[in-house]
Amino acid sequence: MNRIFSGVQPTGNLHLGNYLGAIRNWVTLQEDFECIFCIVDLHAITLPQNPEELHAHTREVTAAYIAAGIDPEKCIIFNQSTVPEHSELAWMLACITPLGWLNRMTQFKEKAGKHRENAGLGLYAYPVLMAADILLYRATHVPVGDDQKQHLELSRDIAGAFNRQYGIDYFPLPEPQILGAATRVMSLRDGASKMSKSDGSDYSRLNLTDDDDAIALKIRKARTDADPLPGTSAGLEGRDEAANLVGIYAALSETSVEEVCRQFAGKMFSQFKNELSDLAVERMGPIARKIRELTAETGHVDGILRNGAERAGVIAKRHLGEIRDIVGLLRT
Ligand code: TRP
Repeated sequence: MNRIFSGVQPTGNLHLGNYLGAIRNWVTLQEDFECIFCIVDLHAITLPQNPEELHAHTREVTAAYIAAGIDPEKCIIFNQSTVPEHSELAWMLACITPLGWLNRMTQFKEKAGKHRENAGLGLYAYPVLMAADILLYRATHVPVGDDQKQHLELSRDIAGAFNRQYGIDYFPLPEPQILGAATRVMSLRDGASKMSKSDGSDYSRLNLTDDDDAIALKIRKARTDADPLPGTSAGLEGRDEAANLVGIYAALSETSVEEVCRQFAGKMFSQFKNELSDLAVERMGPIARKIRELTAETGHVDGILRNGAERAGVIAKRHLGEIRDIVGLLRT
């Protein structure tokens, strides 16, 4: 039986890059797998967070996933801290994880920056908590982006270490779930940098909460070059901004870049942008409206998270009981 687990940080400003790169893929996965999607609030606090914003972002991310098509009946969607077994298992796994493995983690080095001595223990242990998230449900597949491959690899190593230490084949080694070509969406202002929630200019990204007018305005203002659209994708080389807009069009219309080039060969970007704007409004507009609807209804999103936590908790409690037996801890 395949079970998918994935986690997402509760950050604000979810944008088109998050949608095309991750969220949309999760929506298709739920048709074929048992899926558990977790808003990882305990991971979020490995770096300083404003408490009100953390609340708001947890709800916003939940609303966005549901608005994008994740079905909370079919999937389990919940926030990590409401199932305390994640932290308990993280401790047990921390006890069998060699420091040497953690010292290799490149994301810790990036996030800790120059003053590594001042970094929190939680930030260092981040990948162990991530392993606990996955292994607690004995998940078999984990959809992750490139930046999380090393952490997933470590989760496999920790699962193996546990199985070896206790001489039991308890945890499946979680596999990365390779997804269809994820679109790398770049900034609308600079085709060389990724679309990002932290870019100072809001014109650089299409937020999932942008209304129709904002979407249209941002696409109209998006940077391009003076040349017309090429007839083949080869003609986009060295034209980062042009390639980005064509890529977005292809992803939103679920065709290839090649096909979009064929369709618009020789047209000017002013005209292409009108088409892109209509398409983006058609695809993204309903998601934004649904997010607003979900967040306006007080208590609705919280109810979904509570229900998810109950269902996740049933699996988590059963497995943690078994793990206690294996490790030699008396059951609660
Ligand atoms: N570290 C992941 C990220 O930042 C989030 C995450 C936490 C996760 N636990 C997970 C992803 C378990 C997959 C599986 O994107």
